[in-house]
Amino acid sequence: MRILIVGRSGQLAQELAARLPRDGHQVTALGQPELDLARPETIARAVEQVAPEAIVNAAAYTAVDRAEDERDAAFAVNETGSGLLAQEAAGRGVPLVHVSTDYVFDGTKDGPYAEDDVTGPQGVYGASKLAGEQAVLAAHPRSVVLRTAWVCGAHGNNFLKTMLRLGAEREKLSVVADQHGAPTFTADIAEAIARMLPGLAAAPAGDARFGVFHYSGLPFTTWHGFATEIFRQAAGRGAKVPGEVAAITTDQYPTKAKRPANSRLDCTRITAVHGIDPADWRVSLSTALDGLLSRG
Ligand SMILES: NC(=O)c1ccc[n+]([C@@H]2O[C@H](COP(=O)([O-])OP(=O)(O)OC[C@H]3O[C@@H](n4cnc5c(N)ncnc54)[C@H](OP(=O)(O)O)[C@@H]3O)[C@@H](O)[C@H]2O)c1
Repeated sequence: MRILIVGRSGQLAQELAARLPRDGHQVTALGQPELDLARPETIARAVEQVAPEAIVNAAAYTAVDRAEDERDAAFAVNETGSGLLAQEAAGRGVPLVHVSTDYVFDGTKDGPYAEDDVTGPQGVYGASKLAGEQAVLAAHPRSVVLRTAWVCGAHGNNFLKTMLRLGAEREKLSVVADQHGAPTFTADIAEAIARMLPGLAAAPAGDARFGVFHYSGLPFTTWHGFATEIFRQAAGRGAKVPGEVAAITTDQYPTKAKRPANSRLDCTRITAVHGIDPADWRVSLSTALDGLLSRG
């Protein structure tokens, strides 16, 4: 298939650009300035030029704290631009996978969030992503909205790379221990999307394979639990790690935008419908560390 990936430089976009050609797909990854979700004219032009048979939107305004001061910019990309991309996909009759986030929820639920749980974003970024989901689903019935959480991997900036950098510099780190979720590695998200795409290309509107799906890693942990496992595995590879990783509360690490206390996603639907199981993030972490630490 000819596949257009939107978001060339992002951590997931780069992983998709590496993974999808392995299935024989012809992949074009486009980002700013050629395909700028905040500039509608570039969207139509890029889609026309690539003439894709499927589109994956891995681009978003992702600066969670800055979004609190840049509401219009966040909505322009995450709502308006994403909706226009979905219109283009609908116009061409090709399926769209649109990546979204746990931040559409308020994080107050006790257990993992299911796809049809009530949404309630706590900040501008989450609100813009929720508006984007709604715009995409309204514009194109052959869309998948794939909500994920705590994304990290070998490319771009993420918690894993921040921990490795700070861990090499400091003797003590403090990490939030009262936010619950699961790391999701870009390699696993790219694999999930790769496995979905052939079925989506064949499926008609109304098919159960379209709609909202959750996909994140397992087992559930906290940021502190994730950091502890990063340093355990990194130390096993000879990396310098901090002597102490202190557990702190969200109140002790204030951020401009509120983070959900509960980011746990129930992933049973994607398993039932697409046959895709959540990956054990500890195994994916090990693979990522093999690459990151061997690069020095
Ligand atoms: N990171 C997480 O923890 C997390 C958690 C849950 C869900 N998600 C979702 O997962 C998806 C991928 O996230 P990520 O972590 O890979 O993000 P990322 O590394 O921050 O990359 C975002 C990408 O979007 C591009 N982008 C931003 N504004 C754009 C615009 N106006 N037009 C075109 N492209 C634009 C960026 O390009 P430039 O570099 O050129 O700006 C970049 O390539 C997003 O939908 C995000 O909301 C992420």
